[in-house]
Amino acid sequence: MDYERNLPAHIGIIMNGNGRWAKQRGLPRSDGHKQGAKVFKQICEYAGDRGISHLTFYAFSTENWSRPVEEVMAIMNLFREYLFEAEERKNENEQKGMKIRFIGDLDSEIIPRDINHLVHMLEAESSNKFKTTVNIAVNYGGRQEILKAVKGISQRIKNGYLLPEDITEKDIEEGLYTAGQPDPDLIIRPSGEFRLSNFLIWQSAYSEFWYSDVLWPDFTTQDFDRAIEDYCLRNRRFGGI
Ligand code: IPE
Ligand code: IPE
Ligand code: MG
Repeated sequence: MDYERNLPAHIGIIMNGNGRWAKQRGLPRSDGHKQGAKVFKQICEYAGDRGISHLTFYAFSTENWSRPVEEVMAIMNLFREYLFEAEERKNENEQKGMKIRFIGDLDSEIIPRDINHLVHMLEAESSNKFKTTVNIAVNYGGRQEILKAVKGISQRIKNGYLLPEDITEKDIEEGLYTAGQPDPDLIIRPSGEFRLSNFLIWQSAYSEFWYSDVLWPDFTTQDFDRAIEDYCLRNRRFGGI
């Protein structure tokens, strides 16, 4: 099997199980998130080295605001730390050909101002010569994303640039945060749950799913390799035979 030739162009990862990992150790959930953030950095780097051209990590959903305020704050603090670190290491990321992008409603009032500012700064500085695009989904929801696309299309119709009968799938795709990127070929979800939880719901129409019982903070590069190997053995038919 020629694994390298069949590598997925885009892998989505639903980071999950941080809370249970901490609970198993008698630690606060925030410690699980801290460990999860370390694993995120390791897998991100490894995937880039392996030549995966697009990655999307689900870090915080539009539904995650319903968690206790201390937990939400702990996650936002980790996100802030990551942004500072990425800003400091931007030359290193550039050398590695990594482009970091953020998807989700990061301009919402609910996002702390300094985080919003850092996000825009990092995106503006990200170079155009890159081999890996890393999308980090924060305050992201698939339904919210489709709604955003629909509003964009409606505005174009209102302004007379488009007729309703001329709307195509491409118009919707162009209104998504992932516009211009390939759809995820493979979606990985650790921690024993078999659901999308509002992740890339438009883009995942033909994605392959890979689940594992490993909790995200215990997820290793070997687990990542296993997911890719399994993916390479799948027969994708896209409705054909
Ligand atoms: C991390 O795992 C995902 C985030 C929403 C940050 P969880 O916090 O969902 O951990 P479990 O699934 O409750 O164990
Ligand atoms: C999905 O995980 C959201 C992220 C990974 C950011 P959740 O842990 O929030 O999903 P549910 O609530 O179990 O569906
Ligand atoms: Mg979870």
